[in-house]
Amino acid sequence: MWISLRFTLLFLAVPATVFACEGECIVGITKAFIGNYTNPIDAVMDDVAKQIVTQLVPQHAAEAKSYLQPILTAYGKSSYDGMETAIFPSYFHGKCQQNGVDPAGCPNPDCPVVCGTPGSLIHFYSTLRFIAYNQTSHVLGLLSSPGSDAYKQVERAVVQAASSPSPRMLLRYERYNSEATDTMGQNMPYVKKREANVKNGLQDIMKTVPQLLLKACGGQATEGDGALPKCSWEDTMKPYILSFP
Ligand SMILES: *[C@@H]1O[C@H](CO)[C@@H](O)[C@H](O)[C@H]1NC(C)=O
Ligand SMILES: *[C@@H]1O[C@H](CO)[C@@H](O)[C@H](O)[C@H]1NC(C)=O
Repeated sequence: MWISLRFTLLFLAVPATVFACEGECIVGITKAFIGNYTNPIDAVMDDVAKQIVTQLVPQHAAEAKSYLQPILTAYGKSSYDGMETAIFPSYFHGKCQQNGVDPAGCPNPDCPVVCGTPGSLIHFYSTLRFIAYNQTSHVLGLLSSPGSDAYKQVERAVVQAASSPSPRMLLRYERYNSEATDTMGQNMPYVKKREANVKNGLQDIMKTVPQLLLKACGGQATEGDGALPKCSWEDTMKPYILSFP
């Protein structure tokens, strides 16, 4: 009875202004990570486009990156909600108080308790960095898998490009075709096989997306201190986080 009364009184004593990463702070930090990931994602797409050209459509070097646009568009549409959820309710949430008392440094500027405040995001920055990386990798990986609509659009574009010849090949093809129009029936299995090869090749290339993102981030998919050095942005991100009350 005494204990519960004490807790009730402490609870009532919580000041009206609760410092927490809410509203603008949540939106701002989520968008900042998504924005910062633009460059590494672009590097990944460049690499994938190069593989597609080298292995599947050497005659279409200039267009290869445009075939990947559906993945970037889908990522742009779906990345926000997942990132906000991964960072905030899933990990950084709640009050920092322990038995109704704020530990030193809490809620700001450097709070050694996992809670929903800027100070906690600062103290656990390497975890925050890993959550942002993991989420980005997870979503890009899903979009780059054969089950996604974006993937199907990419596949259609690459298969079509692989069967549409460059001007030089077209000339050769026309010469060949004028000699052998009546062998088209025999050619169909070849066309089908070629299409299946392109599809398999694309699948193998797209499978490398998560590894390529890890490479672009400088390695180490962990919460460790020196992990993901190129996807940390600590110098600009920490002051930005602390700009929220
Ligand atoms: C990362 O985000 C922070 C906060 O919005 C910004 O100041 C910084 O310029 C961004 N860095 C990159 C490389 O986009
Ligand atoms: C990585 O992200 C996915 C998708 O949000 C999540 O299900 C998974 O638990 C995360 N993994 C870690 C180790 O945080």
